[in-house]
Amino acid sequence: MKKLLALNWKMNPATYESAERLASASADLAAKLKKYEVVICPPLPWLDDLATKFRGKVKLGSQDVFWEEKGAYTGEVSPVMLKKSGVAYVIVGHSERRRILQETDEMVNKKVLAGLKFGLKVILCVGEDIKIRRQGKKAVKNFVYNQIKKDLKSIHDSKFAIHNSLVIAYEPIWAIGTGTPCHPEDALKVIKFIREFLTSDFSLPTPRVLYGGSVTGKNILDFVKYKEIDGALVGGASLNPSQFKTLI
Ligand code: PGA
Repeated sequence: MKKLLALNWKMNPATYESAERLASASADLAAKLKKYEVVICPPLPWLDDLATKFRGKVKLGSQDVFWEEKGAYTGEVSPVMLKKSGVAYVIVGHSERRRILQETDEMVNKKVLAGLKFGLKVILCVGEDIKIRRQGKKAVKNFVYNQIKKDLKSIHDSKFAIHNSLVIAYEPIWAIGTGTPCHPEDALKVIKFIREFLTSDFSLPTPRVLYGGSVTGKNILDFVKYKEIDGALVGGASLNPSQFKTLI
């Protein structure tokens, strides 16, 4: 399976024109990467147009999804709508949504199940905050284990294809947008642990597990050189074409 480079633009750029320029530059560069699948996750208002314009060139992902198919849910977007727009991936449980919008594991769990049910590939974000990191490696592993356990609750009851459709992004919160990534060997330890317990305790096929948090062109190889790290979730460095070029 190819490694994955997921580009989380967050709430940027400000206009459709600049989003299209950035997507076009990113798609051209991504075409050079034979061993990687590249997914651009732009803000929602640009998603449908970009998915149409770049069909067959680069994959598109949404930064969020709601768990219901349709109905009275003001402001939400359903997995069915995303699928119909040609969106391939959806990011679920990003720490900014958990922290700023108070998304709970229960909500994240519903989103994971809904995404898979309607044929979207789900990138589930997990990771500890600085307080837990300071408590040591055991606390980090416990936290990540419990978070994934809650976020994937009932996944076995679902009849949806999990193989190849579930991606976990290990993103320590303290490393996101700070310019201080996790030490690659520490990230590797947590990622190996995630891979192991998903197959042993959860009997799931090993999903791709990415690293995210201050990934740039300067440090990406320190992470993806390991066979256990299946790619990266990149925020800031995906917004600047010259930084993105170094990354590629
Ligand atoms: P960053 O963001 O690369 O800017 O640290 C990563 C993310 O939030 O997914």
